[in-house]
Amino acid sequence: MAERRALVTGASSGIGEAFARALARRGARLILVARRADRLSALARELGGSDQADFVALDLARPDAGAALEVELGRRGVEVDLLVNNAGVGLTGRFDELPRERLLAMVDLNARAVVELTRRFLPGMIERKRGGVINVVSTSAFQPVPFFAVYAASKAFVLSFTESLAGELQGTGVVVQALCPGLTESEFHHVAGTDRVPFTRTPAMRAEDVAERSLDALAKGKLRVIPGWRDRMLLRAQSLVPRAVVRRVAGELFRPRGENR
Ligand SMILES: NC(=O)c1ccc[n+]([C@@H]2O[C@H](COP(=O)([O-])OP(=O)(O)OC[C@H]3O[C@@H](n4cnc5c(N)ncnc54)[C@H](OP(=O)(O)O)[C@@H]3O)[C@@H](O)[C@H]2O)c1
Repeated sequence: MAERRALVTGASSGIGEAFARALARRGARLILVARRADRLSALARELGGSDQADFVALDLARPDAGAALEVELGRRGVEVDLLVNNAGVGLTGRFDELPRERLLAMVDLNARAVVELTRRFLPGMIERKRGGVINVVSTSAFQPVPFFAVYAASKAFVLSFTESLAGELQGTGVVVQALCPGLTESEFHHVAGTDRVPFTRTPAMRAEDVAERSLDALAKGKLRVIPGWRDRMLLRAQSLVPRAVVRRVAGELFRPRGENR
């Protein structure tokens, strides 16, 4: 008998780690995925050891990562019941100056790996007539964001992908969710360089609250989940404003210090 587990990508910090803890509290057995094996190993141990929480250390931006993960889970006799596509990175700055390799690795992780893992694990869920996929999007998906262009575009891709998928999965027993957090406490902004922009001076949510709200909403089958009330209000107001104005404001919020062009 295969054992069913929830797979959380990007579980070594921030929202992914919070998902792992929240799922463990709800009795799920876990597979944790990210690159930093030391962090995953410590978290898996804390959550009850390999019977409860096991891990696979993997760079999901690599083109062979999805196949390697599927083979490894097959070897361990694990079926994925809930897939949390959470791993993601950002990079702020002027598009024409940012390193090409980092931009492409961001697309590979934020967009390509989401499609790849969903394509690999969704058919099993459909066959078993149960399961769920949570794709961690962002409020950046709802508008263009100058100085954060590729990140915002990658999240717009995942939002559209997830909502389209929901239309195909009606009646299958499998639910999908597009989780759209706004500013959240994690290591994200340090990695992305967004800690240098005005946006990160606005109030942030706790990663624990983001994960809890997502799981509560999943149980209710909610497709688009914006966990922060400030973000829900802002997005509602923004929908009434011309897109060119929204783009200008977003650009000012993400303009790095000293960037004058
Ligand atoms: N924080 C925010 O304000 C915010 C807002 C909206 C949406 N989000 C989204 O939330 C998700 C989680 O981000 P976070 O805020 O929790 O940031 P975080 O603390 O930096 O966590 C990112 C996670 O992704 C993993 N990761 C990065 N590159 C990877 C790779 N190549 N292969 C495998 N795993 C990789 C990291 O682990 P390793 O470094 O160990 O690989 C880490 O576990 C992302 O999709 C992000 O876009 C964040």
